[in-house]
Amino acid sequence: MPIPRRIILDTDTGVDDALAILLAMRSPELHVEAITAVSGNTHVDQAVRNILITLETLGIQDGPPVARGEEKPLVKPLFLADDVHGGDGLGGVTRLIKPDGAHLYTPPEGRVSRVSAVDLILDLVGRYPDELSLVPVGPLTNVAKAIIKNPVRMRKIREIVLMGGAFRVYGNMSPVAEFNIFVDPHAAQIVCDAGIPLVFVPLDVTMQAVLTAATIDRYAEANRVAAFVRDCTAHYVDFHRKRRDVDGCFLHDPLAVAVTFGEKLVRMTSARVNVETAGDLTTGMTVADLRSPSHDGLSPNARVCVDIDAPAFTQLFTERVLA
Ligand code: RIB
Ligand code: CA
Repeated sequence: MPIPRRIILDTDTGVDDALAILLAMRSPELHVEAITAVSGNTHVDQAVRNILITLETLGIQDGPPVARGEEKPLVKPLFLADDVHGGDGLGGVTRLIKPDGAHLYTPPEGRVSRVSAVDLILDLVGRYPDELSLVPVGPLTNVAKAIIKNPVRMRKIREIVLMGGAFRVYGNMSPVAEFNIFVDPHAAQIVCDAGIPLVFVPLDVTMQAVLTAATIDRYAEANRVAAFVRDCTAHYVDFHRKRRDVDGCFLHDPLAVAVTFGEKLVRMTSARVNVETAGDLTTGMTVADLRSPSHDGLSPNARVCVDIDAPAFTQLFTERVLA
């Protein structure tokens, strides 16, 4: 077994972020150095609580540090996706009650880092130069703030593997924009211009990665983690059935985690990616010429995932998280 890859998981823990945390913590190819929170699916304070609840279900005592990040995007007003991820960002599980009246899922006390997400990211990049990968699966506000604060240090990041963008498919926030980029397009452009190796894991591939309701139900009574997955995805699956015509849910964020160690799961192409930050109709659009060779004459700043071995990925997720 090769040396585990050090990662920081930057999340707006939401439901699929929680599934990404479970996969990352159960992947021996990775060492999770920290989990940071940002507003997006839910407010950053709730995202912190949801990260702690998710780690708690794994029964991990000395888990990675959890740090609170940015509450609002760099320029745009705060935008939350409560409708998709439930009022608490975790499918409503924080409202579930045991027969004795106690909450079924409560965040453990006192596990939040005193260091901000931005400072923790910078500290860890300084401690592990050229070794650490950053895996943002929410809006890129924390990452952009770290780049603004110390651009030289951030260029010592090995790679940023981010869930975000829509290149040859429609967006999920507008016809052209994906949620994470849409919420903070200015942060996304700063990331694109930072000179850090980037991998985009966009809707083009994540919407092919479906965790079916049948699979969720098949394992739900098998163990505590699978029961948590059933509980936290119920609202999210209902949304997918009504609004995406999918009998399950997209594994957007877990795919970004898997790509950090399993590039064979996807096919990538190099491109120059920019982000629309000013368009009335197109704000948050990821703009790139994915033709090989591209016709834009621009030097690439990223690799973009354009295809996926979906059965192999969903099997990996099921075996590591549910079974
Ligand atoms: O567009 C999907 C992305 O937006 C995922 O990261 C999901 O968690 C939401 O943040
Ligand atoms: Ca997310």
